[in-house]
Amino acid sequence: MVSYMSDSGIKVRPCERRDIQAALKIFRDGCIDNSQDIFRVFLHRQTARLYISIIAFVAWVFFRSFAISGSVIITTVAVMYVVSYIKSAAYAKRRMMTDLRDIKRNYMDSRKAEMFIAEDDGEVVGTATVSAMKVDSTALELQTLSVSRLYRRSGIGTMLVAAAIKYGKSNRYEKIMSHASESQMAAQRLLEKSGFKIKSRKLTSFFPFFRLYNKVYCYRLRESE
Ligand SMILES: CC(C)(COP(=O)(O)OP(=O)(O)OC[C@H]1O[C@@H](n2cnc3c(N)ncnc32)[C@H](O)[C@@H]1OP(=O)(O)O)[C@@H](O)C(=O)NCCC(=O)NCCS
Repeated sequence: MVSYMSDSGIKVRPCERRDIQAALKIFRDGCIDNSQDIFRVFLHRQTARLYISIIAFVAWVFFRSFAISGSVIITTVAVMYVVSYIKSAAYAKRRMMTDLRDIKRNYMDSRKAEMFIAEDDGEVVGTATVSAMKVDSTALELQTLSVSRLYRRSGIGTMLVAAAIKYGKSNRYEKIMSHASESQMAAQRLLEKSGFKIKSRKLTSFFPFFRLYNKVYCYRLRESE
């Protein structure tokens, strides 16, 4: 059983029944935080700015009113924010309807998966799951990585990733994989610092009307780690 404690008293251990609700809340909060990161990344993108300018210009041509074209800009940005939120909430909901719906069966009682939690003085402050990939049973996938907002940047994410790696090695998986989108900068840095390397990239259409994409990186733990 993978379980250990840091100098600061944070303990990482397999999830128990009493931890489930708290772990799910941390996962959901992490997804919502991601929606804000996605929105920020899109706003910084040249294409997004170009589209917004074109829409505002067309509005100005039609109405000859700066007030209306200003409102169009605000509405477009608000729509992007709402779409980012809905997409992230939909991802969380999809996970809740699938593997996270029955954590006891899919993780706690499974020999091919595990859910870890990080605990500080009895309080659940982080979570992560590992499971054998359906497409390749020699590969273990790290998912659901999330740390409670107040506890971020204190090494808990690193501990959870280390627990996942330890689980993968002790269960003799050939590959340990994970995914992070381009907006998940913290997760990218954390995975790279923990010995993962980008293996491939794919584009997922995030705003279909704008044709703005969100790049998703597929990470694999380096052989030497
Ligand atoms: C990603 C996440 C789990 C990181 O957890 P954490 O406990 O803060 O991570 P750690 O403290 O162990 O940080 C390890 C390294 O990751 C990087 N990192 C973490 N947060 C970062 C941030 N906000 N910005 C940039 N790099 C960051 C740093 O390199 C850090 O090392 P350093 O502190 O020595 O510089 C956390 O930010 C989170 O829950 N985010 C929301 C959910 C999410 O994005 N999950 C990832 C799904 S793939």
